[in-house]
Amino acid sequence: MNKESAEKKIIELTAAINEHNFKYYVLAEPAISDRDFDELLEELITLEKQFPDLQLSDSPSQRVGGTITKDFKTVKHKYPMLSLGNTYSEQDLREFHDRIEKTLAGESLEYVCELKFDGVAIGLTYNKGKLVQALTRGDGVQGDDVTLNVKTIKSIPLTLRGDNFPENFEIRGEIILPLAIFKKINEERVDIGETPFANPRNSAAGTLKLQDSTEVARRKLDCFLYAVYGDQLPFSTHEESLKQAASWGFKISNERQVCRSMEEVLHYIKHWDSAREDLPFDIDGVVLKVNSFRQQEELGFTAKSPRWAIAYKYKAQSVSTKLLSINYQVGRTGAITPVANLEPVLLAGTTVKRASVHNADQIENWICMMGISFLWRRVVKLYPKLPVLIFQKEKKVRNRSAL
Ligand code: IVH
Repeated sequence: MNKESAEKKIIELTAAINEHNFKYYVLAEPAISDRDFDELLEELITLEKQFPDLQLSDSPSQRVGGTITKDFKTVKHKYPMLSLGNTYSEQDLREFHDRIEKTLAGESLEYVCELKFDGVAIGLTYNKGKLVQALTRGDGVQGDDVTLNVKTIKSIPLTLRGDNFPENFEIRGEIILPLAIFKKINEERVDIGETPFANPRNSAAGTLKLQDSTEVARRKLDCFLYAVYGDQLPFSTHEESLKQAASWGFKISNERQVCRSMEEVLHYIKHWDSAREDLPFDIDGVVLKVNSFRQQEELGFTAKSPRWAIAYKYKAQSVSTKLLSINYQVGRTGAITPVANLEPVLLAGTTVKRASVHNADQIENWICMMGISFLWRRVVKLYPKLPVLIFQKEKKVRNRSAL
């Protein structure tokens, strides 16, 4: 094939494959079979190998990885990546609501309630519709440039759809590892004697910082977006910005809800506390955001977080089961991991049969403390006055420091 026709074909294949990726990974509505998809991708990769200078910046061939990042560059965030105030209590939520009502002096008020995805925060920058940078949160002021790894996440658009997006903007969200994939990865790790990940969040964080993007691609991360940042954005509400972002090809959760009263908010929270068990990924709470951007501006920020948003966190899910036995596995690095074999039990939608006992050091500490406490009790039996003497000495020292 000559260069001219190769260029035409590469443009055509790139657009077609990106569209199929969107249908499959964002809409969950595949339009062709996996086999036909693989054939298109193969054809593109062959042409790109023949004419490397014709590869487009949004080529879906980057989705399979193939790059090595030795050191992740540290980059300053254009908009600081703040965190959210959080609470576990309904009372705190009502107080948050009262404070907002007071500031807004009786204006009508709406909240957008969203799931609080339990993953790793990411900021994606788009310029003229192309993904140009992906930064982790880092310390909130500067983060790590993980662009090449993020490009392997198939639900993140490399090129945006439509034409009504701002020339320059950032969109933030959470990179997550779906539970089914987390389970598979951990089973594989245990089989080859590696330490399993403690939870999907740790696993997503570890994956994002891998040097080999081919391995990142293999791990099948996913990403939900939840906030658009930019100068003079053309929206007046958060809900509107999310709807628009969805139309540009981003994966925005449909599980959000605009609530017009605290009762509606509390109902949403209650619903997801049990419904989260059926989600294919972990959430650790719900986020409430004032919908109107004008009202958000009026409410402003504290030093650490916005006054117009709060996270309501769910208590961690836990379950009891019987410990059947413990295997000790030796990893490639020589690290020994104790793995507990458990009586199968359902937790957060998955059956748990094995669990790594990462906290072996804690258990050791605990056993050690039990030993000390046993010894202490024996010593006290022999010298019953010892605690009184120690107590008096400590009291003296405290009194002295108070002077
Ligand atoms: S909004 C100004 N929305 O929770 C902060 N955050 O504890 C804007 N998170 O750093 C964040 N789901 O990593 C927002 N629907 C959601 C979220 C969400 C998860 C994370 C995010 C944030 C952390 C705060």
